[in-house]
Amino acid sequence: MRLTTVYGSPTPPGKLARALGLLEQDVRDRHPNWVVDRIEPENPVAPVVATWGDDAVERISGADAVVLASPVFRGSITGTLKLLIDMLPNEALRSKPVGILTVAAAPHHFLSAERHLRDILSWFGALTAPNSAFFVDRVFGAAEVDAEALADLREFADQLVVLAENLSGRHFGPDPLTVRFTRKKT
Ligand SMILES: Cc1cc2nc3c(=O)[nH]c(=O)nc-3n(C[C@H](O)[C@H](O)[C@H](O)COP(=O)(O)O)c2cc1C
Repeated sequence: MRLTTVYGSPTPPGKLARALGLLEQDVRDRHPNWVVDRIEPENPVAPVVATWGDDAVERISGADAVVLASPVFRGSITGTLKLLIDMLPNEALRSKPVGILTVAAAPHHFLSAERHLRDILSWFGALTAPNSAFFVDRVFGAAEVDAEALADLREFADQLVVLAENLSGRHFGPDPLTVRFTRKKT
């Protein structure tokens, strides 16, 4: 089984990188039948913009489960992550377990990026994991990450593993709107 994690920050390394790294290590430690493959932006083109390698779409398409990780930027996801999402065909995430991991400076912004990602994931007909992981960035700026955050990451990982191991290969309908409106009439 393959978990592809998408590090959606154009400004590595940071708090999100630390959170994602702990999640990835936890999956490797506790789920040895899983391979973890991280995709990160490769080409910085401006202070908060970077683009993606040519194989990013293929690596997401081949995953059994995906984590989309983003810092909150201006009350939403990063433009960098959106650049990648806009390159994905519908089948890349259709019926696939996808978890949302976000960090922000302000606790009040806990749904800012998540709600936008949930809208986007419904375009794909993704199997969006019911519970997202959100953290205030200072949690991952501390020397020691507190036990509650680590427990949240473990539960978040387990959620994706259970969804993928039980539902992999299943196809859920009805088709999302994009499929219905582009279907050829017979
Ligand atoms: C361009 C930009 C916009 C941001 N917008 C918000 C925001 O709207 N709300 C918020 O709580 N934090 C915001 N932040 C803070 C980041 O979400 C926070 O510092 C996060 O930890 C950055 O990720 P990193 O530590 O992995 O680099 C913003 C940061 C940047 C650089």
